[in-house]
Amino acid sequence: MKRPIAYFAGMGRAVPSTVMSNFDFAAIGIDTTDEWIVERTGIKQRHIAKTESVTDLASSASRIAMQRAGVQPGELDIIVVATASPDRLLPSAAVDLQAAIGASRAAAFDVGAACSGFIYSSTVAEAMIAVGNADTALVVGVERLSSITDWTDRSTCVLFGDGAGAGVLKRAKQHRGILSTFVRSDGTLGDLLCRPSGGGARPFSSEVLADKSQFIKMNGREVFKNAVRSMSEAATRALDMAKLTSADIDLMIPHQANVRIIEATAKHANIPMSKVYVNVDRFGNTSAASIPIALDEAIEHGRVGEGSTVLLVAFGAGFTWGSMIVRL
Ligand code: ACO
Repeated sequence: MKRPIAYFAGMGRAVPSTVMSNFDFAAIGIDTTDEWIVERTGIKQRHIAKTESVTDLASSASRIAMQRAGVQPGELDIIVVATASPDRLLPSAAVDLQAAIGASRAAAFDVGAACSGFIYSSTVAEAMIAVGNADTALVVGVERLSSITDWTDRSTCVLFGDGAGAGVLKRAKQHRGILSTFVRSDGTLGDLLCRPSGGGARPFSSEVLADKSQFIKMNGREVFKNAVRSMSEAATRALDMAKLTSADIDLMIPHQANVRIIEATAKHANIPMSKVYVNVDRFGNTSAASIPIALDEAIEHGRVGEGSTVLLVAFGAGFTWGSMIVRL
């Protein structure tokens, strides 16, 4: 099928009002330093939800995106939400968002692809537009990772943040839109980054609460190695599929997990850091929300605009990875 099929008509973002700096970990008894966190990850602060729910953050980001796209809630045909930290396990975060914004005509569902969620969700939404199931889609990446983080584990709690990013995808009429998408996963590596308990295999119990296995567990070194390899592959594949080279890219927006992973990916993809968007220093790793938050900021700050060619690339639990080239 000939591309572009769908284009991003408007983006929006929302983050909780409470900011937690690296220096604030001392007050909660975490044995770490600003120097260690900045050197290993590039993170200086993150936004942490105190009162804001996933639905609140997703609704705020979505309302901005819809307003910029000139779309009313009743015009949405589908709502696709990517999240690993929904407000509740049943029903989906997407139907809670649908109710909050009053998108009564939409079919709403979640996509589980962790940090690659926005790329997976946009790929699904584009495909539904392609086959005629939708003309207008709301795609949201949202997380309240602070709720599923073990705040006594210094190897993970310094990494994550909360927030939401949203985009309205509309059927393409001109040359603007998604030029290529690439998604892959490897479930044999699922244990390297997971929440072992709280699901059907090991439901909540006093043992689970005692061993804190409902929280995120991660083998940081293995995640790091795989993230660099997979994001580098994904960047190349999206370029090849769009018949573009790295010189054609105005801005690369990688998943914001760690500045060292971002730098290594950019090097492999042959894209200079001057063309790479980085905000992990201010938001930490917001998983599925990181790419739409960064894309929205990049547009708002004038780093890219209509006609710019943007490479999105992500990696997350699963492992999942993927990439997308978008002409804005
Ligand atoms: N403060 C101080 N010391 C710490 C901290 C901390 N917050 N956390 C761990 N350490 C210590 C460890 O205990 C260890 O000490 P030891 O040598 O005495 O045993 C030492 O620092 C080194 O630990 P490593 O885990 O080997 O450190 P590494 O250089 O690998 O950095 C990090 C850890 C930052 C987690 C890194 O592995 C990484 O970034 N991995 C990728 C993580 C990631 O991006 N995850 C998310 C991607 S997917 C997604 O977004 C869901």
